[in-house]
Amino acid sequence: MAKDRSWDYFFEIYEKLPRQGPGDARSTLRALDLLPALNDRQTLLDVGCGSGAQTIDLAMATDARIVAVDNHPPFIDQLVGRAADLGLGDRIKGQVGDMNDLPFPDGSFDVVWSEGAIFIMGFSRGLASWRRLLKPGGFLVVSEFCWLRDNPPSELWEIFRDGGGDVGDVEERRSAVTPAGYRLLGDFVLPAVGWWENYYVPLSACLEEFRKAHEKNSEALEVAVGCQREIDLYRKYPDTFGYVFFVMERRE
Ligand SMILES: C[S@@+](CC[C@H](N)C(=O)[O-])C[C@H]1O[C@@H](n2cnc3c(N)ncnc32)[C@H](O)[C@@H]1O
Repeated sequence: MAKDRSWDYFFEIYEKLPRQGPGDARSTLRALDLLPALNDRQTLLDVGCGSGAQTIDLAMATDARIVAVDNHPPFIDQLVGRAADLGLGDRIKGQVGDMNDLPFPDGSFDVVWSEGAIFIMGFSRGLASWRRLLKPGGFLVVSEFCWLRDNPPSELWEIFRDGGGDVGDVEERRSAVTPAGYRLLGDFVLPAVGWWENYYVPLSACLEEFRKAHEKNSEALEVAVGCQREIDLYRKYPDTFGYVFFVMERRE
């Protein structure tokens, strides 16, 4: 049986992007502003960091030491290389690891941060599972897919829910925060610029090159179709779904 190379093609595209999901520096800093300033004795864990766009922004905006974890080694290599080039290598440690089984003792971090990656575990499961990593009074900041309107079209439901996505609206996410042992300090919707400028515009350019490079390869072209569908859906339904930042404090 021929080997399924879909993930190889997927990563061929995503390794070329400045970030692997929607986000922007201004929103990262807006969420960070809801926390007290972080000093050089404090530590932050960035979960599902990808190639580390937000890791670098966080390192530049704070004095904290940062551990950034992703399960795709080339993303960690990219982050470590970039951090070294920017003179941040002594404060950013890249580590290959699985967010489902993070190898850190309880109470290791002042802040756990995760942009666009908690959906992999599911919002409530991620909140519950990462809580132990925080010191008492520590902070959890995540950005997560949310419905922004009531009654989203069935086309979207089918794609996101049937694709295994952890779909929910903002109110559902908010109501999961207290039972999981946190206090919600604030939340806000990622602006459209975070979807286009750093994500879908570079993704569109990558897809064009990718299609040319693989024009006779139906398996590769199928991966490009999936990526393109994501872009087309956001263009069609820009106000129906989005990413929301949730900034939380661990309660005792
Ligand atoms: C949507 S991307 C977000 C990346 C980055 N935070 C950003 O906003 O650009 C999700 C990331 O989670 C990583 N990932 C997927 N499953 C993982 C797992 N089980 N453990 C750790 N990282 C994982 C992927 O490799 C990818 O880099």
